[in-house]
Amino acid sequence: MRACRVVTTPGQERPGLTHCKWRWFDAPPAPFYKVDTVMDETQAGVLDTVETIVTSLKHKPGALLPILHGIQDHFGYIPDVAIGVIARHLRSTAADVHGVVSFYHYFRSEQPGRHVVELCRAEACQARGARALESHAKARLGVDYGQTTADRSITLKPVYCLGNCATGPSVRVGEQIKGRMDPARFDRLVDDLTTYKLELN
Ligand code: FES
Repeated sequence: MRACRVVTTPGQERPGLTHCKWRWFDAPPAPFYKVDTVMDETQAGVLDTVETIVTSLKHKPGALLPILHGIQDHFGYIPDVAIGVIARHLRSTAADVHGVVSFYHYFRSEQPGRHVVELCRAEACQARGARALESHAKARLGVDYGQTTADRSITLKPVYCLGNCATGPSVRVGEQIKGRMDPARFDRLVDDLTTYKLELN
């Protein structure tokens, strides 16, 4: 169990909480609200990288969004520990930073699976069968939108128009957009994404 220390005001401590990192607990964010924790090496490395990204971008106009993009580009999501660092550098509050992260669907607060599969839910794709595809995809993967399969291979996300309306239903996997998707093609796609090819020399 990790040793954590939550300080709400200078000199006031509540010992014994775990999973602290830079997460807000039951008290609302306040100017002196600070979570102090013993971090493992990985977390320290993440913090170092976040510091570097934030420092390099914080002088840009409207720096918050470029910083969030930079962090998500690097890690694939916005780690919890980044929130406090960003707030400190931008002289903002963790609540404000967290509010922006949760407002934009693009930003992820959890580490995604190895592949992110996005299903288009916009009208043109719906007219071409996206609803049925959506039900099939959720059943096949055993997850809802925003969730990751148990083996962490695929995260399922909704998206609203990929500019590929004429050949919908459309699906995006990473940078690739695939049209005319139906349940059978979706199953083959999942098989491809979850099958490891062994090359024998
Ligand atoms: S509506 Fe699905 S790609 Fe445009």
